[in-house]
Amino acid sequence: MVTCVAATLLAWRRERLAEGGAASSLAWLLDVGAGLERKRYYSLALHPQATVQLSRDLDELTRLWHRHLKQEPLQYLLGRCPWRDFMLTVAPGVLIPRPETELLADVAISLMEDAPASGGLWADLGTGSGCLALALATAFPDCQGVAMDQDPTALAVAARNLESVAGRVRLLAGNWWQPLRPWWGRLTMVVSNPPYIPTSTLAHLDPVVRCHEPRPALDGGPDGLGCFRDLLAGVSALTPGGWLVVEHGQGQAPALETLFATAGLRAIRRHQDLEGNDRFLAGCTPHH
Ligand SMILES: C[S@@+](CC[C@H](N)C(=O)[O-])C[C@H]1O[C@@H](n2cnc3c(N)ncnc32)[C@H](O)[C@@H]1O
Repeated sequence: MVTCVAATLLAWRRERLAEGGAASSLAWLLDVGAGLERKRYYSLALHPQATVQLSRDLDELTRLWHRHLKQEPLQYLLGRCPWRDFMLTVAPGVLIPRPETELLADVAISLMEDAPASGGLWADLGTGSGCLALALATAFPDCQGVAMDQDPTALAVAARNLESVAGRVRLLAGNWWQPLRPWWGRLTMVVSNPPYIPTSTLAHLDPVVRCHEPRPALDGGPDGLGCFRDLLAGVSALTPGGWLVVEHGQGQAPALETLFATAGLRAIRRHQDLEGNDRFLAGCTPHH
């Protein structure tokens, strides 16, 4: 812990913002990177002589800020990312969990709560940091889950994030449904946030994403729907009445709905993000 005076910190803040970047990002850096909660941060101006405790000194925070101004994501610089109630480990090479994906967890959790049978077996395909698997394992302590990814770096990060629920979540490597073979036909809920950005759009992404986040986590092929086709080819792995719930890109809902229906899924329902855009689709396999 290092100690500084509020007035010094406020002057430091003004200097940093004069160099560029967003005030919200600097507040995020101080909160997640130095332990200065936002409530306390915003009250500093009222108490300029107050003493402030920081877990990193201002020189180190300045170095991190300068790297961020060169487009490095703060989450990678700090190795941490708040998501739902969790403080997740993140690392370069693994997708940074997005706030909207919290809604995918909510949709899946609410469908599982409504399901008549308890004690189901869920799976998270393309788990990345393990964020969705952690949300499901925490919400359903009596259920077993499987989280998989093709990328060993992602699996290593997911293993760290899933430590607290390790006895209830199996981590597997491979290509979509293939490593889940022992559980085919028994899965009651499958969530996935697969890569869905059309290849031609990748070049236009914000450099903070384009230059630092892993392309295999983003690239959904020519029309962005390639991974959904792979996922829908394997829905027989679901138990009758089992759910597939996915996140998708803006504008993809109509085409994806058709793919869901063609794969035999029923009760297909769109869900929206906070801006009202269709971003999630759920469908279930027919009951016998
Ligand atoms: C958009 S990221 C989502 C990560 C995490 N679920 C999240 O929501 O933050 C997609 C993930 O799918 C994985 N992936 C891509 N193709 C895959 C495949 N064929 N089989 C398994 N995983 C795959 C990537 O490695 C990446 O971790």
